[in-house]
Order: sequence, then C-alpha cells, then structure tokens
Amino acid sequence: MSAPAVPLTAPEATPAGHTPTTAATTLAARRIAELGDRARVCGLYDALGAPLYHDLATYDDPETRALLTAVRATPGPVLDLAAGSGRFTLPLLATGREVTALDLSADMLALLGTQLDRAPASMRGRCTVVQDDMSRFALGRTFPHILLGTTSLSLLDQDGRMGLYRSVLAHLSEGGRFLLTVLERGDSDDPDETAAEVTGAGGTVYELYEHWPASADSRTVTLLPAALPQDDSPVTVCTDRVAVLDLPRLEEELAVSGLSITSRRLLSPPGERHRVTLLTTEATR
Ligand SMILES: C[S@@+](CC[C@H](N)C(=O)[O-])C[C@H]1O[C@@H](n2cnc3c(N)ncnc32)[C@H](O)[C@@H]1O
Repeated sequence: MSAPAVPLTAPEATPAGHTPTTAATTLAARRIAELGDRARVCGLYDALGAPLYHDLATYDDPETRALLTAVRATPGPVLDLAAGSGRFTLPLLATGREVTALDLSADMLALLGTQLDRAPASMRGRCTVVQDDMSRFALGRTFPHILLGTTSLSLLDQDGRMGLYRSVLAHLSEGGRFLLTVLERGDSDDPDETAAEVTGAGGTVYELYEHWPASADSRTVTLLPAALPQDDSPVTVCTDRVAVLDLPRLEEELAVSGLSITSRRLLSPPGERHRVTLLTTEATR
C-alpha cells in the first residue's frame, strides 16, 4: 500500500476521545453536511477513528525506513513515543529490538495489542506497551534511542513539548539519541484544500481531505469512506485540526531545553506540499 497523500497526524487524543473540529473547510465540510444525521464525527485516534487510521498506516515508506536505519547504528532498546498501533514498533521488533511502545490512546494501543497477539512469541516478548502521556512519563529506565515519528510532536502545545523534552532527557542513556520528525508546508502551489482517494490495507477506499492554507498555523484533516452504504446506516467521519510547528522556532526550543541537533535530514522530495524533516538530537554536554 502506498503512503496516504496526507500525513494523518491529528491533535491530542485522549482515552475518552476529544472534541473534533467541524470547522467549515469547504470540500470536507460540504461532504459532512451532505451526510447530515448519518455522519458520526470523531477524532483519528478514538474508538471510532482508530480502526480507520490503522487501516491506512504504512510500513514501507521513507520515514519508517529512515528511522529503522538511524536506529541500526547502535544496539539496545528503543522507546517509541506516540507509538499508536505500532507502525514503527512492529518493524523494530522484527529487526530483533526490544521496544517500549508508549501512547495515550487506549484504542490505538488495543490495535497494537491485536497485532502483537498475531506476531511470533519471540517478537511479542520483546515489546512493553505503556499507556501514558508523552509530555510527562517516568518509566524508571533509560534508552539509547527514543523516537517520536509521524510528526506527532505537533500534537503537543508548548507546555506539553517542554514536558516531553524533560521526560526524554530523563530517559536517554549516556550518548543516546532522540529522533523526531517535523512537518512543514512545502513549496508546492497546491490549493488550500486537497482531496485524495486512498486505499487501506483492508481494501476500503477513503476520501482524504486536507485544508492547509500556506501561512496557516494549523491544518484540518478529514477522512471518511468513499463508498457509502445504501441504507441509512451511520458513516464514520474522522476530522481533526492539527497545529503546524515552525522548524526554526522548534530548533531554538530544543536547544534551550538541553537537546542539541546533530543532524537534519529531509525525508520528502523537494516541491511537495508536505516537507518532512528528521531531526537527530542528543543531550547537550
Ligand atoms: C499520528 S499518530 C502516530 C502513530 C504511529 N506512530 C504511526 O506512525 O502510525 C499519533 C499518535 O499520538 C498519540 N498521542 C496523542 N497525544 C499523545 C500524548 N500526549 N501522549 C502520548 N501519545 C499521544 C495518538 O494516540 C496517536 O496514536
């Protein structure tokens, strides 16, 4: 399956769900309005949205490959923050790593649990699953690698990010590395809102909308099945507004928090709407 045209990073998910936005984002808002009472509007990581998110998760994409390659350089356990249903956790386990997968959403972790149940016992035995908040966790151990992929840093506000950096520093082994990806608006002259059809691993085709004016400090992602049941049954519509972070400001934030950037790697081709950068950081000595 190819990567979805829009990174499905959404705002903070809580086990109890959250308040999705129904902001009038032209195409997507019109689509929701057409569904009327049939629309079951939810977030991407709650009980209704998590299965759709998981269906679209990709495992063979530039980000996953870059993170696996980066981790390969040093042995030892990996802490996968905002692990979700295991997009990085599972390939890491498959390479023989011990992985701690931390996520706030019980619904996303339940999907990870299902995948682990189907995995060989040797893989399952190397995975520790933790339901916790990445902005304040205390696991009582350290890791040579801590990952925060899928540009999930944008799910935290500034206080949350400060808490995350403190927690990360407390869990990095001597010489350990914190790897994170960041999403910016690329140079393409796409319209403010894009619409794409994407196919999930289970064969379902979805409509995926993204409303992101070039200078906006947030973008809105909306996902729903393309084919609607003929009867009047409900239709799940995941829609969330996600903050957009400014990379230079973020780099300053990391520096004042005690994390030095040792490399920056662009993971997306030039000229695309989504510019994804992999930052490698270490505790400042
Ligand atoms: C974009 S998904 C990424 C999931 C997974 N890494 C992947 O690539 O498929 C973001 C994840 O962050 C989780 N999340 C949101 N806020 C969180 C928080 N404060 N602490 C931990 N996890 C959080 C969500 O539940 C969701 O699983």
